[in-house]
Amino acid sequence: MIRHLIDPLDFSVEEIDGLLALAADIAQDRQKYAEVCHGKKLATLFYEPSTRTRLSFEAAMLNLGGSVLGFATADSSSATKGESVADTIRVISCYADICAMRHPKEGAPLRAARYSGIPVINAGDGGHQHPTQTLTDLMTIRRRKGRLSDLTIGLCGDLKFGRTVHSLIKSLARYEGIRFVLISPEELRVPDYVIHEILTPKGIPYEEVTSLEESMPKLDILYMTRVQKERFFNEEDYIRLKDTYILTPEKMKLGKPDMAVLHPLPRVNEITLEVDDDPRAAYFEQAQNGVYVRMALMMTLLGLAGEKEAGSC
Ligand code: NCD
Repeated sequence: MIRHLIDPLDFSVEEIDGLLALAADIAQDRQKYAEVCHGKKLATLFYEPSTRTRLSFEAAMLNLGGSVLGFATADSSSATKGESVADTIRVISCYADICAMRHPKEGAPLRAARYSGIPVINAGDGGHQHPTQTLTDLMTIRRRKGRLSDLTIGLCGDLKFGRTVHSLIKSLARYEGIRFVLISPEELRVPDYVIHEILTPKGIPYEEVTSLEESMPKLDILYMTRVQKERFFNEEDYIRLKDTYILTPEKMKLGKPDMAVLHPLPRVNEITLEVDDDPRAAYFEQAQNGVYVRMALMMTLLGLAGEKEAGSC
């Protein structure tokens, strides 16, 4: 059976543990994995802009000794001629062994998976989900805090359109002792389904607030996000909301000494450059972890993970 990663819950908690352990082992000894995917090809099908996700997938496959092919914009694919995602993936299945797809339409990678002869990885679908960013986030939290349970997580910014936020909440909701502080302007609160289908049924404590300053002292993790300009219906709203939260060294003084600040990047204005020097800033390390988790993920989906012994996290 072909395995895909479309939704953050496609892997069990135990499988995620195994994947993070493998990613940690890769981080310690990259050389050991340099030929694991020799002869394998990754196709990157990106119908939406990306820097980190696409390049980290490509770097990950190259680090494993494989090769990459693909396109970086919808304009340069046959989508402009009217080809469906279903047809595209049937064809790509003949050219590559695994594929990562980013698409502006929610559910497009799921649809692709139904027609695919190779594993499909959702590299972001519209404002919906971004499961590989979540793996990156989990690895960073685990490495910084030593655990994924008993944490107060503040998510700040565009909680409505930010797919990384939706996937991270969905994933962390499976661990014990998680509390969420959801910090956003009224208009950019998390979608209702996050509250009614994830948080409430599981009895997970959460608060929806507007003040970052007041929330700072209680947070173990602060997850900053950019306001998702491309998903706004009108520019005026974007301009009004884009600078609601700006994390500065003054605000960092309100945070715990062992807090970690994450951001999926790209950053626009929401974290000032001076914060980068604070040892609690974990976002560039997070981007680096993105390569390791994608290496671990592709090895797993290609059935090559068992061939190397994973160390512990
Ligand atoms: C995120 C995305 O594409 O959703 N970027 C990323 O993959 N690291 C976040 C964003 O674009 O704001």
